[in-house]
Amino acid sequence: MTQDELKNEVAKAALQYITPGTIIGVGTGSTANFFIDHLSSMKDSIKGAVASSIDTANRLKRNGIPVVNLNAVDEISVYIDGADESDHNLNLIKGGGGALTREKIVAAVANQFVCIADDSKLVDSLGKFPLPIEVIPMSANYVKYQIINSIGGNPVLREELTTDNGNLILDIHGLEIDDPKNLENRLNNIVGVVTNGLFANRGADILLLGSQNGVNILKS
Ligand code: A5P
Repeated sequence: MTQDELKNEVAKAALQYITPGTIIGVGTGSTANFFIDHLSSMKDSIKGAVASSIDTANRLKRNGIPVVNLNAVDEISVYIDGADESDHNLNLIKGGGGALTREKIVAAVANQFVCIADDSKLVDSLGKFPLPIEVIPMSANYVKYQIINSIGGNPVLREELTTDNGNLILDIHGLEIDDPKNLENRLNNIVGVVTNGLFANRGADILLLGSQNGVNILKS
C-alpha cells in the first residue's frame, strides 16, 4: 500500500470511535482530509463537527457536515486528527500544516483524542520533524533568539505562511526531545509564543497506525 492508502485505512478505522448523536472535533492535514471524506457516510448520525482550521471547516461543509462553533458546544466526545510524529507514549509533534493552535484547543476540550497516522510517523524519540511554534508577528525575532539562547536547536521562520489566527510560524530544527512535557512548558513560557507543536501535556489517548499488516492500535 502507498502512504496515502495507509492514511485512508486509518481514517476509515477512526469512524468506530464516533458516538452517534455527539459533536466531534476534526483535525487538519492530509490524513484528516481522508477522515472527513469517510465521515460524510455518517453525517446524519452526528450532531456536528468543530473544525481545527478554515480548510477543515470548508471541507466539512463541502461534505454536508454541519460545522459548529466551539463556544456554542458543551462537549466534544472525540477529536480525530493526524500528527507529524508520535512517540510510543503518544506524545506528538503537530503543526506541519500550521494549524497547531486550533488543533491544541480542540484536543484540550475533547473527552478523547484519537490520532490517525501511517506508521512512518512513529518514532522512538521526538524531534526529527522540525517543531512548529506559532508566534505573534512582532515577537518573531525575540522568540527566535530566546529559543537559540535558552532552548537550543535552529528556529527558522516558515516563509509565506500566515496562520488562520494571523500569526507566524517558527520551525525549530535539530532538537532532541527527551522530556516533551517539560519542553512544551518551557516554550509556552516565552513571551510572544502563542502555541508550540508539542502535544505532550495533552497527548493522544489512542493512536491508530496504518501499516502494511493492517491498522495497529496503540494506547497511552
Ligand atoms: C496540521 O497543522 C498538522 O498538525 C497535521 O495534523 C499534521 O501535519 C499531519 O498532517 P498529515 O496528515 O498531512 O501528515
